[in-house]
Amino acid sequence: MKKIAFIGSGTMGTALATAACRGIDPKEVVVTDFVQEKAKALADQLGCHFVEGNKATVQSAEYLVFCVKPQFLSGVLEEIKSTFQECLDAGEKKIIVTIVAGVDSAVYVEALGLQGKQVPIIRILPNTACLIGKGFTLIMQDDSYTKEQLEEFKYILRESGGFDSLPPSQFVAGTVLTSTSPAFIAMFANSLADGGVYNGLLRPQARRYALEGILGTVQLLLSSDKHLEGLKDDVCSPAGPAMIGVKTLEDKGFRSAVINAVADAYERFSSIGKIK
Ligand SMILES: NC(=O)c1ccc[n+]([C@@H]2O[C@H](COP(=O)([O-])OP(=O)(O)OC[C@H]3O[C@@H](n4cnc5c(N)ncnc54)[C@H](OP(=O)(O)O)[C@@H]3O)[C@@H](O)[C@H]2O)c1
Repeated sequence: MKKIAFIGSGTMGTALATAACRGIDPKEVVVTDFVQEKAKALADQLGCHFVEGNKATVQSAEYLVFCVKPQFLSGVLEEIKSTFQECLDAGEKKIIVTIVAGVDSAVYVEALGLQGKQVPIIRILPNTACLIGKGFTLIMQDDSYTKEQLEEFKYILRESGGFDSLPPSQFVAGTVLTSTSPAFIAMFANSLADGGVYNGLLRPQARRYALEGILGTVQLLLSSDKHLEGLKDDVCSPAGPAMIGVKTLEDKGFRSAVINAVADAYERFSSIGKIK
């Protein structure tokens, strides 16, 4: 039996399988997908195993990481239910890991018939930067898994980036920030670059300078506990260009737009698990 298998080799399955193959022997890693060619190509690239079909994948490994879109999850769970039960009946150790946004562990318990069976379920929310080892994964605190199981899981995926654990009451708020902010930051970066192009820079330069500005700022902010906007105050000299720009952003509702984007994303996250 292999250590870990990824059901779904899309954006996140690829990112996490890549991190796992950097952290442990790729021979301990299994990937599969509805589109076999996709998973085969990933397995070739990473030097790990491709397994055909979700049932065989369930049989193949101890940690089973569900990386499909929420609307496909119930079909996958229905498909693997009997195989999963057979594995448990045979005394095999199985640990469910779910990255499916908005879907409670209870959905797995119900769909796989795990009531009273003590199967550990680790609910996580990673982000796309796991692909390059710069991701940040939130883990929902839960007494279905042991400290040792969690530590082993984090060890397998340590090359994905950082981790933090949150109680269930805070999990959605945390995951909204870590998983949606890459989209918002990408839009912000491109808007900065557009401004640079508007002012006469070539696109490649504008792109690079925008990203370097974001990177340096983030690293500086992470290096201290200073209030985030203390840096804004440092940069804005009296009647200077940065302060003029800050006024323009405020006039256009910049803060309000960002806060509302995060609040609306929270609403959506809370309802995703109810999509059939
Ligand atoms: N993307 C993110 O930034 C992010 C962040 C945190 C969490 N998540 C969560 O991660 C999960 C996956 O998201 P994603 O962005 O990686 O989606 P994705 O790119 O669409 O990947 C999902 C993969 O699963 C495959 N698939 C669909 N049905 C399947 C089945 N029955 N059996 C096996 N594989 C199947 C899909 O194949 P097809 O392409 O043929 O459909 C696709 O390759 C979602 O539940 C999402 O909530 C995503």
